[in-house]
Amino acid sequence: MTLVSCPVRKARSLEDGRPQSEEIDTTPLRNLILWLSTKKSVTDAIARRGMKYGFARRFVAGETLDEAISVAAELGRAGRRVTLNQLGENVTTAEESRLSCDTYLEMLRALDRAALDATISVKLTHLGLDLDFQHCRSLTLEIAAQAAALGHTLEIDMEGSAYTDRTIEIFEAAQHQYHNAGLALQASLRRSERDLERLAILDPKIRLVKGAYREPPALAFQKKSEVDANYRKLLDLLLRPRPSGRFTAAIATHDPTLLDFARHAIQQYAVPPSRYEFQMLYGIRRDLQEQVHAAGHPLRVYTPFGSAWCPYFMRRLAERPANIWFLIRSLSAEGKHSPSGQAK
Ligand code: FDA
Repeated sequence: MTLVSCPVRKARSLEDGRPQSEEIDTTPLRNLILWLSTKKSVTDAIARRGMKYGFARRFVAGETLDEAISVAAELGRAGRRVTLNQLGENVTTAEESRLSCDTYLEMLRALDRAALDATISVKLTHLGLDLDFQHCRSLTLEIAAQAAALGHTLEIDMEGSAYTDRTIEIFEAAQHQYHNAGLALQASLRRSERDLERLAILDPKIRLVKGAYREPPALAFQKKSEVDANYRKLLDLLLRPRPSGRFTAAIATHDPTLLDFARHAIQQYAVPPSRYEFQMLYGIRRDLQEQVHAAGHPLRVYTPFGSAWCPYFMRRLAERPANIWFLIRSLSAEGKHSPSGQAK
């Protein structure tokens, strides 16, 4: 097993200390988790044990593409669509971005061989957006071309606001050329309504998310109530009939109130299932995933995999400190059942 040391990036994501709810402030516990995540002894221990003893598998489909494909197939048998994401963020050399691109090309071939209803989700910094815009653009178009040839969609994740313009520009190029690209837009950003209007002409698939990055007040709504209100506004724009241009909406949230809002709008506007889907993260709110699926709505599960899983895993823990209990239970069960009988 690959050993991964995984300090969680501070200062970027909402998970770094911003209260999730305005009623209950879990900041101290989240800060504790994030502080622990900077301790190499802790992260090494988690990275060493996470896959071996299974607890990382709650949120991550495995370390290898084969494992991810078998999880995707299992989700497919349960009636879920999948979007596969190879974990890993900013690359630091052109060779690394080429390697990431090759992995995505291989993912597409593997999905095709397994005949899965799946898309792939890519972060552009993983393809070198920070290093060389043109190189990143050409790698993205290479992936879009292969995805189009095999009948798949390339979904592009949205990262921090420093990347928004460049991400949209590359998305537009891919969508113009291959008509098989999707893009995440963040309800937390004030600019997203303008971006949505600008993109309508491309008939794009838009994944609407709340936004996972800490941004300044000039750029982003700071309160959960404001982000939620903007989410409702943007979702209405995505779903309502338009005089020109149209969207396919990917409603990516686990927020029960927003899910209700979405279900109501889908009914009100009689949106056909070909024009929308719900999206949720692998292992999160499986009860809601079941509800959405049981009600007959299309549901896609964002399914990450890869050896660099530890930062993603720690972010999921910090996002919902209650998750820490299942980690502690797993580690204490490991202690009881370890071959030597020694608690570790
Ligand atoms: P919210 O954070 O309000 O959570 C609602 C409820 O969900 C909580 O009350 C809890 O019950 C449950 N929940 C949330 N997180 C949990 C956890 N870790 N463990 C257990 N329960 C949890 N962001 C981004 O900036 N760019 C992107 O490209 C994407 N892509 C993306 C794809 C998909 C499919 C999803 C679902 C999300 C993203 N995101 C994202 C992340 C998104 O911006 C946001 O940070 C998270 O989805 C959390 O927000 P919710 O909408 O779930 O609501």
